[in-house]
Amino acid sequence: MKVLVIGGGGREHALVWKLRQSPHLARLFCAPGNAGIARQAECVPIGAEDVEGLLTFALQQGVDLTVVGPEAPLAHGIVNRFSARGLRIFGPTREAAAVETSKTFAKELLRRHGIPTAPFRVFSAFEEARRYVREQGAPIVVKADGLAAGKGVVVARSIPEAEEALRRFMVEGELGEAGRTVVVEACLRGEEASVLALSDGQTILALAPAQDHKPVFDGDRGPNTGGMGAYSPVPLVTPALQQRILAEVLEPAVRGLAAEGTPYRGVLYAGLMIQDGAPYVLEFNARFGDPEAQPILVRMQDDLLPLLLGVAEGKLPQSGVSWDPRAAVCVVMSSAGYPGSYAKGHVIRGLEEADRLPDVVVFHAGTAVRDGDVVTSGGRVLGVTALGDGIGAAIERAYEAVRHITWAGAHYRTDIGRKAQARLKGTAAVAG
Ligand code: AMP
Ligand code: GLY
Repeated sequence: MKVLVIGGGGREHALVWKLRQSPHLARLFCAPGNAGIARQAECVPIGAEDVEGLLTFALQQGVDLTVVGPEAPLAHGIVNRFSARGLRIFGPTREAAAVETSKTFAKELLRRHGIPTAPFRVFSAFEEARRYVREQGAPIVVKADGLAAGKGVVVARSIPEAEEALRRFMVEGELGEAGRTVVVEACLRGEEASVLALSDGQTILALAPAQDHKPVFDGDRGPNTGGMGAYSPVPLVTPALQQRILAEVLEPAVRGLAAEGTPYRGVLYAGLMIQDGAPYVLEFNARFGDPEAQPILVRMQDDLLPLLLGVAEGKLPQSGVSWDPRAAVCVVMSSAGYPGSYAKGHVIRGLEEADRLPDVVVFHAGTAVRDGDVVTSGGRVLGVTALGDGIGAAIERAYEAVRHITWAGAHYRTDIGRKAQARLKGTAAVAG
């Protein structure tokens, strides 16, 4: 089979790494890919958002399955376009991807189907939003409706902070059209977890839970990023809670979308707050998480290709997925300055030494090749991922690998997975 993966980050490297192991694979392309992906797939210099360029390539090459990594091509309707030309593609249509591209759509879907989420109101007039915020009091959460690359959510500790966010989004148009409409919702408290599920529109296959680390610095301090590390399984998510998430969140969402004429085919990512033991949806994403995909995919024991194909064809097998019982931890190494501005082009040393360690995979994100050297080319540069017997061993192994890798201005958090370790001291059973 010929497979094309779209994207060029750590998530796409994990997808390529996993698909490479499939006995059904004949050729593997990635557009545009990165320096690490280039070792396992044929990289094609077409941007992830160039839908027409990608379509032409897939038709010319006779690609059997296209796998979409990031959200932007989904928002541009790549799945609608490929499907109309008879091409098999993994990912939701533009209409179903609205679970991620419009927070208003997502929240209203949740409300219609009785799926637990923070109480909310939607506003497109600044004065009304401001009045509501003043009535409700702080803390309160302001969310831009559209895609905002992680900059569209403000958890406001005070009324002036909330009003400032409303002003920036709605009056000053800091996020363009994405922020003209906002969701204002109650602030939840607890610990977060991500539970992803494959869906062919009807059948659902939940994946092992993962936990992300969004803030840039240790102890969850500093600005939010795309994610500075992740691990799986998650002690917070017991088998009983995972069942509840399936029954109260994922199943009603997929059933609801199908009943409303927007069947969801792809991977549905539920970002959850676990408050007093109960799950509440913070957000849906229409794709694999980055960096959650890295620990999830290194633990997956089944062949990924038939699963993705099953989703694309509407024939997802009902059988469950098997997971490596070991824990996986992914530590993201980023460029100093990220998520703000940062330098590019620094030579990365020690990659081979790190990759040679047993049970370690170094996934590339923002890397490129220059004069034969691997150099930094993005904010998140690498996702150093390790398996271990228990979370403690996986953490140790991942950081051992991280210590082999250097470049000028490399940054990483030193506490990835610590919350899991702390919780494990008290509990036993873990889902996935
Ligand atoms: P989102 O993109 O909606 O997941 O929001 C980004 C981050 O903001 C989440 O990962 C949470 O840490 C935080 N957040 C979002 N909504 C809420 C909420 N209702 N209560 C508390 N924190 C929230
Ligand atoms: N790591 C969070 C996300 O992929 O949205």
